[in-house]
Amino acid sequence: MSRKMKNKVVTNLTIERIATEGKCVGHHEGKVVFVQGVAPGDVVDVRITRGKSSFMEGEAIKFHEYSKDRIDPFCSHFGTCGGCKWQHINYDLQKTYKRQQVVDQFTRIGKVEIPEVMPIVGSANTRYYRNKLDFTFSNNRWLTREEIDSGAAFERNALGFHIPKMFDKIVDIEHCYLQGDISNDVRNELRAFALSNSLSFYDIRNQVGLLRNLIIRTTSTGESMVIVQFGGDNAEEIDLVMNFLHEKFPQITALLYIINLKKNETFNDLEVVTFAGRAYIEEEMEGLKFRIGPKSFYQTNSDQAYELYKVTRDFAGLKGDEVVYDLYTGTGTIANFVAKQAKQVIGIEYVEAAIEDAKLNSLVNGLENTLFYAGDMKDMLNDDFIAAHAKPDVIITDPPRAGMHDDVVNMLLKLAAPKIVYVSCNPATQARDVALLSEKYSVDKIQPVDMFPQTYHVENVVLLTLKS
Ligand SMILES: C[S@@+](CC[C@H](N)C(=O)[O-])C[C@H]1O[C@@H](n2cnc3c(N)ncnc32)[C@H](O)[C@@H]1O
Repeated sequence: MSRKMKNKVVTNLTIERIATEGKCVGHHEGKVVFVQGVAPGDVVDVRITRGKSSFMEGEAIKFHEYSKDRIDPFCSHFGTCGGCKWQHINYDLQKTYKRQQVVDQFTRIGKVEIPEVMPIVGSANTRYYRNKLDFTFSNNRWLTREEIDSGAAFERNALGFHIPKMFDKIVDIEHCYLQGDISNDVRNELRAFALSNSLSFYDIRNQVGLLRNLIIRTTSTGESMVIVQFGGDNAEEIDLVMNFLHEKFPQITALLYIINLKKNETFNDLEVVTFAGRAYIEEEMEGLKFRIGPKSFYQTNSDQAYELYKVTRDFAGLKGDEVVYDLYTGTGTIANFVAKQAKQVIGIEYVEAAIEDAKLNSLVNGLENTLFYAGDMKDMLNDDFIAAHAKPDVIITDPPRAGMHDDVVNMLLKLAAPKIVYVSCNPATQARDVALLSEKYSVDKIQPVDMFPQTYHVENVVLLTLKS
């Protein structure tokens, strides 16, 4: 940033609207100014933190007027924890902004002809809607300005969430509104037990410490999985912690642990030990069972996942005689969900363990018309694959945030299936891909779904139909 811009304060900036990634925008001397943590209608002074020739970024340092749409955030950690950035905006408006994001991306990036974007499918639960949370132990608790200024000595161990953009600072969480009771109870009891037994909390800078990470997963059927990651391998201490959890929370149906002496917290390559109960939990949807292992992906809002899958199935419009490709199938949830309405479903995904889960889920549910393959989509979906399998009548695609690789888009154009249902957690890359597909496809329906209330994230489903 140029010296001239540094610490410059823009006064009385009127926040006009919400742009991408939840940032709000105003205008100053012809330039766009992006500001976090404000709402359209606020009038603020902004300290510039980044300046480019066409835009600036900054933080609000003084509020002159508050937007009439503001509400009081309900969480005491709001503003420090990066989890629910939109708690200050009422839920109806959150939904309006989310839908608007989809409209904006498709008109600005997609530049394709689109039908009216449908009203977003809202989440009945706007709190306690997540089925998975990931907490970090740290010996470097985030201290507030008041705590630092008081000069007093504070407990520095913490169990909670990372402060945004700070890899080594953790906000100690007392209550999180994202996941139901067992989650708050397990986290708080485990922290208290660790402190009273002087067990070490992980020191990420020096890569030492016993307690490293805690993952809690729950299902709508009342099952729960608790995974503790240890950064040390002292068997006695590990036993102490696991026995404590087992005795205190007999309702945990899968109590697991991992010894992770690596530099990072990912554990796909590590052994997961079942301490008590089963090695998995089971979610249910329309009578189908989905087995979720410690390494399996499952949509984190189960109720809204059901809404999302219903929209997807509805857009696919299956009659029973279609061959469906489910690209980026994960653990095959969509594939298995639509299997009863199709002749055959073929799922592709690059995580091998997820494909094993997908096959298992077909087996558990007695579905015999599914096939699953592991591999990178751009390599898997080639002429040989198509020659060896039936051509698709419907393609469902649900890629990661980055969207689809060009080779995959080109293959879809070559395949020219009558229908593509494109599910995405990032309307920007979805709009980009749809623009490429518009060479042969028209956009028939656009349905946003809210999976993550209190955040700016939006899921979006698009129906593309082959032009005649
Ligand atoms: C948004 S998730 C889709 C999840 C799934 N449809 C569901 O609802 O549970 C995207 C999936 O794409 C997979 N993936 C990412 N890049 C891939 C690639 N290049 N080739 C194949 N699969 C990929 C990820 O592992 C992940 O499971």
